[in-house]
Amino acid sequence: MKQSFDKGFVTPLPVFIIATYDKDGKPNAMNAAWAGQVGGDLISISLGSHVSTDNIKANREFTVSFATKDFVAECDYVGMVSQAKVPDKLDKTGFTVTKSEKVNAPIIDQLPAALECRVKDIIEEYGETRVVAQVVGMVADDSVLTDGKVDLGKLQPVMFDSSARAYRVIGENVGGAWNAGGKFA
Ligand SMILES: Cc1cc2nc3c(=O)[nH]c(=O)nc-3n(C[C@H](O)[C@H](O)[C@H](O)COP(=O)(O)O)c2cc1C
Repeated sequence: MKQSFDKGFVTPLPVFIIATYDKDGKPNAMNAAWAGQVGGDLISISLGSHVSTDNIKANREFTVSFATKDFVAECDYVGMVSQAKVPDKLDKTGFTVTKSEKVNAPIIDQLPAALECRVKDIIEEYGETRVVAQVVGMVADDSVLTDGKVDLGKLQPVMFDSSARAYRVIGENVGGAWNAGGKFA
């Protein structure tokens, strides 16, 4: 028999590392799990009041890198402290950045895959800032590509487990989409 539960909600949640510049060109990064793909080339992120949120509102461009197993501590840290309180928060992680060629935003060098995003809409609703952005570019290190596509087995992205407040590696391929169900056809 099913029982009610009160911890966790939707799974899987991604771990987006959002990287932005402030008005003086200083880079910052934050962690966001309340996010997802909402169209062919659109993503949506629910943001509270953060330095990164102000940067996105001012610049209207940012990047999203996928947090990976090898950099869990760094990715967690950028979600634990605000640059408003720890001005050198990015330096503390050892993360370095390179400016995107497509948008006015930094790309974190150590994280292998990133989306380059341009704000389409900013909606203030339900007490949050909902940023809807168009993905205008995608970049990835050769080391995580197979036949020109990002290979999750190589990337080893992590998801946010809101029940356990933990990060989990996204796991094995257990069936082809629009394929595994074919056995019932
Ligand atoms: C696992 C995790 C998930 C988070 N998800 C979100 C989120 O979806 N939206 C949000 O506004 N903040 C989220 N945060 C909090 C921000 O990352 C955090 O407040 C960060 O310090 C903001 O940095 P900044 O002020 O330097 O921009 C998350 C933090 C963690 C650790």
